[in-house]
Amino acid sequence: MDWSELDRKHVWHPFTQEKTEPLPFIVEAAKEATLYLEGGKTLLDCNSSWWVNIHGHGNPHIQQAIHKQFEKVDHVIFAGATHHKAIELAHRVASLLPSTLEKVFFSDNGSTAVEIALKMAIQYWHNQGIHKKRILAMRGAYHGDTFGAMSAGERDYFNVPFEDYFFSVDFIDFPEEKNEMRLLEIADERMSQGDFAVLILEPLIQGSAGMRMYSSYFLDQLVQIAHSYEVLVIFDEVMTGWGRTGKMFALDHIKQQPDIICLSKGLTGGVLPLGLTVTTTKIHEVFWHDEKHKALLHGHSFTGNPLACAAACASLDIFEKEETWENISRISNLNSVFAEELKSDNFPIQVRVLGTILAIEIKGSEEGYFATFKQEAYNYFIKNGLLLRPLGNVIFINPPYCLTEKEQRHIFEKIRQFLVLL
Ligand SMILES: Cc1ncc(COP(=O)(O)O)c(C=O)c1O
Repeated sequence: MDWSELDRKHVWHPFTQEKTEPLPFIVEAAKEATLYLEGGKTLLDCNSSWWVNIHGHGNPHIQQAIHKQFEKVDHVIFAGATHHKAIELAHRVASLLPSTLEKVFFSDNGSTAVEIALKMAIQYWHNQGIHKKRILAMRGAYHGDTFGAMSAGERDYFNVPFEDYFFSVDFIDFPEEKNEMRLLEIADERMSQGDFAVLILEPLIQGSAGMRMYSSYFLDQLVQIAHSYEVLVIFDEVMTGWGRTGKMFALDHIKQQPDIICLSKGLTGGVLPLGLTVTTTKIHEVFWHDEKHKALLHGHSFTGNPLACAAACASLDIFEKEETWENISRISNLNSVFAEELKSDNFPIQVRVLGTILAIEIKGSEEGYFATFKQEAYNYFIKNGLLLRPLGNVIFINPPYCLTEKEQRHIFEKIRQFLVLL
């Protein structure tokens, strides 16, 4: 059977202009950081398969947890019923977060986690009869592909056809070191107007915008300003959660705390879809009411799926092992050393590191998702055995934490060889 032909006939792939892009390769097996392709080629999964697969592929502990759970409860309605793994997961996630964040709403992915966060924030004010309707977000943000998430994200060619259907959102500029203070003043001025319901941010790093990083000082100040005007704050930690930044969550780098946090991607070790929106008892209390319609009337068929919850609990077990944090530190340290080496060379680049994320922006290169540069770089790395999917003119790695030192040094060597060709 020609699987590629069948794929082309029936499968519609995401984020892909299928007319011009080559046929996708077929992955026959995946183990730890390696993908095994049809035809015998192997690829190192440098971006953890869309940033999700944090412990590597085929992790036996996660596998057993899913298997065991399947023998107990595979799936069950989550309204009027609950189950042990969802309760365990909610309890364990809450214990990892600041003590005020203790109410966990389940969904299926990053976009739904964000959608629910926005709905929670909007309804929080609505339930109290308080007129706070405006939403503040950051330019360049990506929060997902559902309509609420798109509305709060950067308006670009990804969502032009849908723009007329978006709700209105105010944006603050992305902070650079030199304009941080001015931007904080602007944010203060805006939020002092009193009718902002919520501020939504990707804390410390805008992922899809090209792993753009900003300071913990700016984040701390901005959250403080929002809270001083009683604006709720959502941290979209879909990408930054689960050790990516070197700490469990990006919020662990700052003093202030959000009112709502969105989690997904690495939550299940990246093997099953699951999203969580975690909030405070203060917000939850506004929905706890004798009037039934004041509840959060939102849910999905697979809300709280037991298999996904079991995988997530198993992933948390792995975080309890010292070895995982040693791996995160080792990857982070090697990233920093490599970044310094690159800085002292004369490549036309800007290098950024935060924890396990290393990003290299190629100066003067064509930007954008469909840039020729991106395709050429992608092809180069595939040819060299690396699945490394650039974001426009930014090449980056955010690998699984099981990546060995040898594999990481190999990735660096290939990146260096690529930079020499520029
Ligand atoms: C910060 C952030 N939020 C939300 C999303 C959307 O998550 P999903 O693709 O699971 O819907 C992403 C995906 O890349 C993301 O990086």
